[in-house]
Amino acid sequence: NIIPVILSGGVGTRLWPLSRALCAKQCLPLVDKTLSLLQQTVLRVTELKVPMRHLGEPIVVCNEDHRFLIAQQLQEIGVTQASIVLEPKGRNTAPAIALAALEAQHISSSGAGTVEDSLLLVLPADHVIRDVTAFEAAIQQAATLAKDNALVTFGVQPTRPETGYGYIRAGDDFAVAEFVEKPDAKTAQSYLDSGDYLWNSGMFLFKAAAFLEELTTHRANIANAVTAAYQARSEDMDFVRIDADAFAACPAESIDYAVMEPTNNAKVVPYAGDWSDIGAWDALYDYADKDAEQNVLLGDVMAEGSSNCLVRSESRLVAAVGVNNLVIVETADAVLVMHKDNAQDVKKIVERIQVEG
Ligand code: GDD
Ligand code: MG
Repeated sequence: NIIPVILSGGVGTRLWPLSRALCAKQCLPLVDKTLSLLQQTVLRVTELKVPMRHLGEPIVVCNEDHRFLIAQQLQEIGVTQASIVLEPKGRNTAPAIALAALEAQHISSSGAGTVEDSLLLVLPADHVIRDVTAFEAAIQQAATLAKDNALVTFGVQPTRPETGYGYIRAGDDFAVAEFVEKPDAKTAQSYLDSGDYLWNSGMFLFKAAAFLEELTTHRANIANAVTAAYQARSEDMDFVRIDADAFAACPAESIDYAVMEPTNNAKVVPYAGDWSDIGAWDALYDYADKDAEQNVLLGDVMAEGSSNCLVRSESRLVAAVGVNNLVIVETADAVLVMHKDNAQDVKKIVERIQVEG
């Protein structure tokens, strides 16, 4: 049995002005015309032929502010039995995944399966993957390793010296010889040049118990705090509400630093299909289909003598004339005009809006 765990905690500030505090990027139809990234992620899993817990019933871990939007989006695609675990405030991915692991054990112990045999397939809600066949093959391969209690990550062939990702050097028999999260630019370049490293895709497969055991070994403080917060939960309709005070006491750390770097029990399965972490507008541009002028035009948009632009309109006609390499995003109350090379700097605007109002 495989239980999909969808991490849906982020807001995606670099996709402002489309993403907002209450409308996180994973809830937006960024790539598909109608389905949000979250809906695409859940549907991708339900399409897989590997055996899942009651097909299409994931555990979604998200911020409590997003609960109605997420519940509604799941209902829209026919997923009515999901467990939605609510974090009062995000503590990064190690605690989020630990909550999912405890919830999975709770579900298994009260249902048909046994705690021992369920595997968690941890998926960020904001990745796009089109090649479901390659994805499925990688999961099948990973399942064999995860059943032997390994923590399995999916490795992607790197194409640039990205410093925002984790890097994995594979040893024999899928062993992870080295895991380095977010190296500096020089190190990332040397990893790329060596040809020996894969990117950590941010997707994982493991037994709930195997993950909790490694977390306890390397970060007992996180394991204890999450357990206390989960035990003090309250059930509210379909939502599992995590106790705010207990969870606030948990250190914030990602699974990559807390577990994947220190553990000796990690394996890596290569995933050769397409994969993209749609983190910023330039990534969305790279991923989207382009017209003859290499423009990505979304919505009520016209372009004349313009190339290599992403232009997106929500509420009115937007025209781009004689411009190149721009990102133009129009929404009802804010318009972004930006050089594509500056995609990471949108964050600075969002920070200023939060401070200056
Ligand atoms: N529920 C919940 N709570 N989800 C969270 C939280 C949280 O506190 N923090 C992050 N997430 C979700 C994000 O929404 C995203 O879907 C996923 O967990 C990963 O978090 P990111 O913040 O996007 O991580 P990253 O991109 O810096 O790094 C991770 O992903 C890379 C690939 O995209 C790492 O795993 C890297 O090693 C990896 O290369
Ligand atoms: Mg990310």
